[in-house]
Amino acid sequence: AGACQLVVAIDGPAGSGKSTVGAEVAKRLGALYFDTGVVYRVLALLALERGIAPDDAERLAQLAQNLSIRVGPPSIQDGRLYDVWLDGRDVTWAIRTPEIDRLASLVSAHPPVRRALLRLQRELARNGRVVIAGRDIGTVVMPEAPVKIWLHASLEERARRRQRDLARRGIVRSLEEIVAELADRDRRDATRAIAPMRPAEDAVIIDTDDRTIEEVVETVLAVVRERCECA
Ligand code: DC
Repeated sequence: AGACQLVVAIDGPAGSGKSTVGAEVAKRLGALYFDTGVVYRVLALLALERGIAPDDAERLAQLAQNLSIRVGPPSIQDGRLYDVWLDGRDVTWAIRTPEIDRLASLVSAHPPVRRALLRLQRELARNGRVVIAGRDIGTVVMPEAPVKIWLHASLEERARRRQRDLARRGIVRSLEEIVAELADRDRRDATRAIAPMRPAEDAVIIDTDDRTIEEVVETVLAVVRERCECA
């Protein structure tokens, strides 16, 4: 009983389709979409700009405590799914470079950093109708979420998707390079001491390799309809 909670937690590795699928599912449910990777990416960008080393857990945690991020609907039609603002600055694309891919994974491994960012992520979900994507949403951030999805995709398929996304923005990378970067990031994200990337025990696992985006979206919506009366 109580107020209706429509919280959809979507976890999975880089390139598994969380953003594309999550944003579309949110749109169809009239829910807010929030991608928690943004929080770690913004922190990585700030650290880079301020010359804070990715292994300086203490200063990173301090920075994390005072992070002022705003996420909103796209203000420009340039392929973005949403705007990301940091202190009045549009950092939507600045946080999507290969360097930030790597740095975000590094800064996110520190326990004090994750602790500092937990409340921020939960506050964004208080909305009541929300689709949240990340690595530890079903296990740590929103363990009570009625819907938990784990998106699976092979390393090769994820690398091809990432290569396509980068190419659209004029960033040329070889497939081998991207495979190596993704494998490195997977290993770090899945083996860190705190909140490692893994499916929650009650997550529905969807293999996206041979499915279209539409098929994956439909599968997620079917789980939502089954588990949330208010969907
Ligand atoms: O989903 P993404 O590629 O934007 O995430 C960037 C990094 O942030 C990822 O490599 C690990 C970290 N991350 C995390 O640790 N926990 C989350 N819930 C989301 C992202």
